[in-house]
Amino acid sequence: MKGAIFDLDGVLVDTAKYHYQAWKRLANSVGVEFSLDDNEHLKGVSRAESLELILKKGNIEKSAEEKQALMDVKNEWYLELAAEMNPDEALPGAIPFLESCKSKGIKIALGSSSKNAPMILERLGITHLFDAIVDGNVVSKSKPDPTVFLTAAEKLGLTPSECIVFEDAISGVQAAKTGGFYCVGIGTKEVLPLADEIATTLGEYSVR
Ligand code: BG6
Ligand code: MG
Repeated sequence: MKGAIFDLDGVLVDTAKYHYQAWKRLANSVGVEFSLDDNEHLKGVSRAESLELILKKGNIEKSAEEKQALMDVKNEWYLELAAEMNPDEALPGAIPFLESCKSKGIKIALGSSSKNAPMILERLGITHLFDAIVDGNVVSKSKPDPTVFLTAAEKLGLTPSECIVFEDAISGVQAAKTGGFYCVGIGTKEVLPLADEIATTLGEYSVR
C-alpha cells in the first residue's frame, strides 16, 4: 500500500450518528418515516441526493427552492449536533492509524462526500496529516460514483491498485470497488458484503 484513502463520517469520526439524527428529524418533519436501515442507504451519499431519496420514499414533490431550504435546515441541525465536537470523537484507533501511515511514508488522502469535511478535520486537529483532501466541495458526483476516490488517488500521484480505501458506507464500498481499489469495510460483513475485508475499527485494522 502506497496510499491510504479515508472516508470521514463513520470511519475517522463518530459523525454518522449526527447525520442520522438530522436526516431523521428532517424526514419526520415532512411526514416520512426514517429507520436505521434507511440510513444505511444514505451513508456516503451527498446532501442533495440524500434529500432526493427521502422525498422519493414519501412520494413528495418539492420545488428547487424548497429543496434548498430543506437541505439548509438539515445542515443547521447537523451542525448543532456536531458543534461540541472535539478530538475525543475521533473513532477508536483512527488518529494513531493515520499517524502510523504517515511515519511509514504512506500517503494519506480524504475521500468524503461531505461539504463539512474541512471543518470536521479542523475540529479533530488532523488536517495537517493529509496529503490530499477530496470532499463534497470538490466533487459533485456522489458515491457510489468512484470519482471521489479516483480524484484522491490522482492527487496523491498513485493508481487505484496502489491505494487502499477505508469505508463504512454501502455506497462508498461500491464506489471503491468500481474504481478498482482494495477496500476495507469499517463495520460488518452483513452490511458491507462487497468489501475485500472487514474491520470493526481502524484500531483493529492497524494491529493485524
Ligand atoms: C457523508 C455522510 O460523508 O456526507 C452522509 O456519510 C452525508 O451521511 C454526506 O449526508 C454529506 O454531508 P454534508 O456534510 O455535506 O451534508
Ligand atoms: Mg462514511
